[in-house]
Amino acid sequence: QNIVLVGAPVEEGTGRRGCLMGPDAYRTAGLAATLEALGHYVLDDGNLQPVTVDDIRPPNAIVKNFGAYAGWTRSLFKKASDLGTGDSFPIYLGGDHSLAAGTVAGQAKAAAEKGRPLFVLWLDAHSDFHTLESTDSGNLHGTPLAFACGLPGFDAVLGTPLTHPVSANRVEIMGVRSIDEAERDFLVRHGAGVSDMRRIDEEGIGKLLHPFLNRVRAENGLLHVSLDVDFLDPDIAPAVGTTVPGGATFREAHLVMEMLHDSGLVTSLDLVELNPFLDDRGKTARLMVDLTGSLFGRRVFDRPTRSY
Ligand code: ARG
Ligand code: MN
Ligand code: MN
Ligand code: MN
Repeated sequence: QNIVLVGAPVEEGTGRRGCLMGPDAYRTAGLAATLEALGHYVLDDGNLQPVTVDDIRPPNAIVKNFGAYAGWTRSLFKKASDLGTGDSFPIYLGGDHSLAAGTVAGQAKAAAEKGRPLFVLWLDAHSDFHTLESTDSGNLHGTPLAFACGLPGFDAVLGTPLTHPVSANRVEIMGVRSIDEAERDFLVRHGAGVSDMRRIDEEGIGKLLHPFLNRVRAENGLLHVSLDVDFLDPDIAPAVGTTVPGGATFREAHLVMEMLHDSGLVTSLDLVELNPFLDDRGKTARLMVDLTGSLFGRRVFDRPTRSY
C-alpha cells in the first residue's frame, strides 16, 4: 500500500500547549520505518500549514481560537479532498482533534465523488459532538465530529455549508466515557452509534466492532478511523491533556486495529491528541506507532486469515 503522512501541528483546539510537537514525535518514534517494514511505501509529505483567515468573527465569546480553527479546517479539508480522490492511504498526524473537522469532511467529499459513502470509526474517551453554540469549554477539539456530520452553525468555518456531510448513522464512537449533556442529545437525535466503555466491558470490543464492519462492507463504504490518544487507558498512554480513567486496554486497542486490518475497509486515519510534552520517555508515541503497525498488518502469528 502507498501511505502518505501529513503532519498537522495544530494545538489551538485544546486548552493547553504541546500538541504541535505531535507529528515530530511520531516521526521520532519510527512511524515510517514501522510501516515500511510491513511492506508498504511511505511518503512523508511534511507538515501542513493553516491558511490565513482574517475575514472571520468568532460566533460567541466562549469559543477559543476560531480563526485558527477555520484556517486549519480549510487547509485540511482541501488536502483530504485531494488525497481522498487518489488511491494512497493518508495518515494525518496531529495535532489536536480539531484537525478532524477538515480531514473527515474532506475524506467524505472525496468518497462521495467516488460514489461511495464514508463511514467513521471514532476511537475516543469523548464524543467531540459539540456545536459552536453548545460547547461550554470553548475548546474546539470538542466539535469536529459535529462539524463533519453537518450539524448547524458551522457555515463560517469553510465559508460555505458542507456539501457532503457524513451521515451520523454511519458513525461509530467507541471507548467513550465522557459525554456532555448537549452532546448526548445531539448523538441521540442524529442517530450516531455509541459503544461506551460499559458496553465494551459487558460485551467485548471485538463483538461490538464486527457488525459495524459488516455494515461498511454491505454499503460498499470507505472507512475513516480517528484515533484519539485518550481512547487508551491513561496508565498505558499518559501523553494527552484530557485523560479519563477507565480507557481501552493494550489488547483491546490492538484487537480493534487487527480486526480493521483484516477487514480491508479502512482508507484513511487520524492520529490525534498526542502531547509529547506530557509523555513518559516516548511510551505513548511508541504505542500509537505500534497500534498503527497493527492496523497495517503486523500480527503475532500467521494463522489462516479470518475475515471481518
Ligand atoms: N467535551 C469536552 C469539551 O467540550 C471535552 C472534549 C475533549 N475532546 C478531545 N478531543 N480531547 O471540552
Ligand atoms: Mn477527541
Ligand atoms: Mn478525547
Ligand atoms: Mn464540555
